[in-house]
Amino acid sequence: MEKFIVTGRNKINGSIDISGSKNSVLPILAATLLIPDTCVINNVPKLSDVYTMIELLKYYGAEVEFNDSIKINCSNIENKAPSDKVKDIRASFLLVGALLGRFGKVSMFMPGGCNIGQRPVDLHLKGFGVLGANQSIEGGIIDISAKYLNGGEVYLDFPSVGATENIILAAVMAKGRTVISNCATEPEIIDMADFLIKAGAKISGAGSDTIVVEGVDCLKGVEHKVIPDRIEAGTFMLAVAGTGGKCRINNVISEHIKPIILKLREMEVDVEESENSVIVSSEGNIVNTDIKTMPYPGFPTDMQAQFTALMAKGIGTGVVNETVFENRFMHIGELKKMGANITVEGRTAVVRGVEALAGAEVEATDLRAGAALIISALAAEGTTEIGHIHYIDRGYEMIEKKLKSVGCDIKRVRSEE
Ligand code: UD1
Repeated sequence: MEKFIVTGRNKINGSIDISGSKNSVLPILAATLLIPDTCVINNVPKLSDVYTMIELLKYYGAEVEFNDSIKINCSNIENKAPSDKVKDIRASFLLVGALLGRFGKVSMFMPGGCNIGQRPVDLHLKGFGVLGANQSIEGGIIDISAKYLNGGEVYLDFPSVGATENIILAAVMAKGRTVISNCATEPEIIDMADFLIKAGAKISGAGSDTIVVEGVDCLKGVEHKVIPDRIEAGTFMLAVAGTGGKCRINNVISEHIKPIILKLREMEVDVEESENSVIVSSEGNIVNTDIKTMPYPGFPTDMQAQFTALMAKGIGTGVVNETVFENRFMHIGELKKMGANITVEGRTAVVRGVEALAGAEVEATDLRAGAALIISALAAEGTTEIGHIHYIDRGYEMIEKKLKSVGCDIKRVRSEE
């Protein structure tokens, strides 16, 4: 077990380079299972979730080299009984769409709930059903098979990111046309679709609320560069806003972080946009506002915990309304240990800004909750110890190295636990 020791109140100055997007590379890696050829994926973040996905692909027989880029060949993969490793990351459920597309059948552990909510997969299964797949669940394992996958029309009752990706993966080599209505529009879906289109798939409408997939017979190997991670970028922007300083955040697509930029401006933080970067300047005094999480292009749920942490030390009161996940306020108990004044009722948190936060011993309860604690710790008086940082390592590449390079006092140590 490792923990971070963070001493706060050091201004953040300089520049930080953003890595490739975790939520893009995971579905793209799943998609390689459809391609009996070599693919090269560039701008891949070195994250524990990425290593887990690679282990899973190797389990099915993929040949993988991961240096600066990932070179992967899925020519000789086999369909197998599910590996226990799929339980380590929820994104492994995307293997279902890809394996179903490649082999016409798949057997997989049903994903359980997690710290941020139940996270059912009913919409994924509804989509596979529309494509003609039969499904049965026994002993926590789902078996899905179809003699032929045929295109069909799927309506998603909620624009689920994972369901949209999984149904695309199953539909890419189905017979005929699949239409996914009320689908998710996140940039990571466009990135996966772009990867598949280069490989020969016929997908239109990615980024809109209706995606059309015309089935093709086969796909070929391609080279692809993953888009920048908008949530990593947002997290560093908030760190600067809360602690103070001036920092250029490089390798961003500013359209993808619009709600974050505009919310920071509402909070009187200066954000300058240029072609591939944003510059955030702050004295550390921010004015609280309200936020409501929504599917893209709304305010991202993956930035909610970090904004709540930022507002803990803001001026005035802000209301946070979490509409996407039902249990995404685990960070608040930890923020309170640092002196935050936040009350929660159902899916709403009322944040009354305090003048200063104080260092404390806290624990990350999930990936973004961990990022929120780093933001608070950097802005707090004194020293904070953050435990369970394996959650943070799932989604932030070399976070302490990047923060140290801009003046933060953060170190990783082994904990006795
Ligand atoms: C993805 C992201 C995650 C982000 C989330 C929402 C990846 C690897 N993860 O997760 O970081 O927080 O999008 O932007 O890309 N739902 C159902 N039934 C389903 C599927 C989802 O009810 O079949 C519900 C979920 O419980 C949740 C909501 O829909 O309340 C959104 O979930 P979804 O968009 O599917 O999130 P993920 O794809 O799991």
